[in-house]
Amino acid sequence: MRIVKGNKTIEYTTGEFLDFVKSWEKVVLDLGTGDGRYVYKNAKIAKDILWIGIDPSEKQLQEYSKKALKEGLGNVLFVLSSLENIEKDFEGVSEFVDDLKVYLPWGSLLEHIIKATPTYLNNLRSLCKTDANFEVVLGYTEEAEPTEVDRLGLSEISEAYFEKIKPLYKECGWYIREITLVSKEILGELDTTWGKRLKFGANRPMYKLTGIIN
Ligand SMILES: C[S@@+](CC[C@H](N)C(=O)[O-])C[C@H]1O[C@@H](n2cnc3c(N)ncnc32)[C@H](O)[C@@H]1O
Repeated sequence: MRIVKGNKTIEYTTGEFLDFVKSWEKVVLDLGTGDGRYVYKNAKIAKDILWIGIDPSEKQLQEYSKKALKEGLGNVLFVLSSLENIEKDFEGVSEFVDDLKVYLPWGSLLEHIIKATPTYLNNLRSLCKTDANFEVVLGYTEEAEPTEVDRLGLSEISEAYFEKIKPLYKECGWYIREITLVSKEILGELDTTWGKRLKFGANRPMYKLTGIIN
């Protein structure tokens, strides 16, 4: 497993990762963390929790990894991986996540969440402890981002759309409990880099999906 530490990327064996992770009572995983601002900020506040950010962009992860290293933050990890590579990168590692977050996904991460792709939902499920919580916040419109919507073949989102895909999630052990149309204010509350950026951008409906994975 490749862990970004400042400007360097270090290989952890499965054993090393497991040893480290099992010493924490609670683990929060932020998938598509980008520059890792969310895990860094929260690691500074809640020191008894291990915060793990995953992103395929090494350059992005270096941003807050450098800060964490400089400050000697021991409860945060920046993992170089992606939804598609989780199965390979986390081989032999399972059931360590208490809370799974996916904030403002883009690209193939957004695509597989919107399309409820079973392979990837199942791969994520295998990382989670029984009854892990998940929270996904996303939003887009054909008008605001036509290229991405067309390229990925994304459906128009609405509460009705998420209700429709709920059974697909359930088949993979994801129980969506709440589908909420949220205001732009939530973008600021997330305290992520993209949350801040989009807060001042075009108006688009944002949805929050929460529930349990088991
Ligand atoms: C709009 S940014 C949001 C980043 C961060 N969550 C935030 O709110 O600032 C979307 C992120 O999704 C990541 N991403 C795209 N496809 C992904 C995939 N297949 N697996 C994991 N992350 C992915 C990108 O690298 C990017 O950092």
